[in-house]
Amino acid sequence: MLPHIPEEHAITMGEGNTPLYHLARCARATGVERLFAKHQGMNPTASFKDTGMTFAASSAHQRGFRWVACASTGNTSASMAAYAARGDMLSLVLIPDGKISWGKLSQSLDYGALTCQLRTDFDGCVKILNELVRQKPVYLLNSVNPYRIEGQKTAAIELLEQLEWEAPDHIIVPGGNLGNSSAIGKALLEMLELKLISRLPKLSIIQAEGANPFYRCVHEFGGSKLVPMTADTLATAIRIGNPASWKKALRVLRATGGEVEQVSEVEIAEAKAEIGADGIGCEPASAVTLAGLKKLRARGFVKPGEMVVLILTGHLLKDPDFTIKFHRGDLFAENQASSSVPISGAPTAGTPDERRVTRAKSLQRAPVVLDADLGAVIAALDGAETTP
Ligand code: F0G
Repeated sequence: MLPHIPEEHAITMGEGNTPLYHLARCARATGVERLFAKHQGMNPTASFKDTGMTFAASSAHQRGFRWVACASTGNTSASMAAYAARGDMLSLVLIPDGKISWGKLSQSLDYGALTCQLRTDFDGCVKILNELVRQKPVYLLNSVNPYRIEGQKTAAIELLEQLEWEAPDHIIVPGGNLGNSSAIGKALLEMLELKLISRLPKLSIIQAEGANPFYRCVHEFGGSKLVPMTADTLATAIRIGNPASWKKALRVLRATGGEVEQVSEVEIAEAKAEIGADGIGCEPASAVTLAGLKKLRARGFVKPGEMVVLILTGHLLKDPDFTIKFHRGDLFAENQASSSVPISGAPTAGTPDERRVTRAKSLQRAPVVLDADLGAVIAALDGAETTP
């Protein structure tokens, strides 16, 4: 099911074989008992990108390229920079200036990439890169590269192996540039064809409300066209307005009978903290899966007795800033004040989302600053015991 890479060109860091966790608390909260998370953030550079990058970087090596390049919201670039370094190649990263997490930026710097922060968004970076590869001998490592898609199929293959080839009823993924959903869908269809599984899970794709071109494509235009938009969301990994792989994603969505949902900023933040409370750390873009599940449950698309797997795409430590602001209660206040465009889906007074903020507050665990005094710590401990 995967491309052949000659041994001498294989660049690998032991990616894959990521854990599958049962989410006990989230299961109780959603009423879906068999709720699991396949954590692709447990890969070497802490995101799902590594499983595709090992193939795509190896292919660059095999073709004798000196330079590889990508446009990114931060995870592709972190992964590419690492694999390029391991394979003795040079890497060029185009990322938006601002709206990129420090964790991801620090990775591409440390792994030695030429990191260019362009004064535009992800979609603007893609445009420039597409021009650049026509003029310079650099190998394109965005997810339009077929090796990336082939490698990212392994998340689904591993998952089915972990479930002893019993297909779950639903797999839920975040949707940004839509390479990952295409890859997972492709793997499911191939496994069915090879009779490794006897039925298809429904593959559903979740977007942030402020970055929802695919949601609109399906729900407003019946899949006939995708209208690019200017995207904005605090889940910066999926801040994408013109997804490259929307046609492929549409195909697998239809073939598996999945759904597309959109979730608000508060729903994302709340879901991230809920996954966290299960002891599993993921980044905001990954948490759209749980937020989306709640919506799919509410409208009866997911039933309580069904088995659901969320694909967590990146690790919590990719974007600790988001987490700290959430727990301190600063996430929305600060971002609304500093953003020139109001973030779509962020709470406004008097809306249901404002009530969600109140609920989200019960998940907040701000650090407690105390004097170095035993009595103060004991008082904090006793106080915490009475808090639900
Ligand atoms: N989750 C995370 C953590 C991501 O980094 C991305 C995409 C997605 C979900 C969406 O996956 O694009 O295949 O639909 N990140 C890309 C990047 C765009 O440059 O790192 P997708």
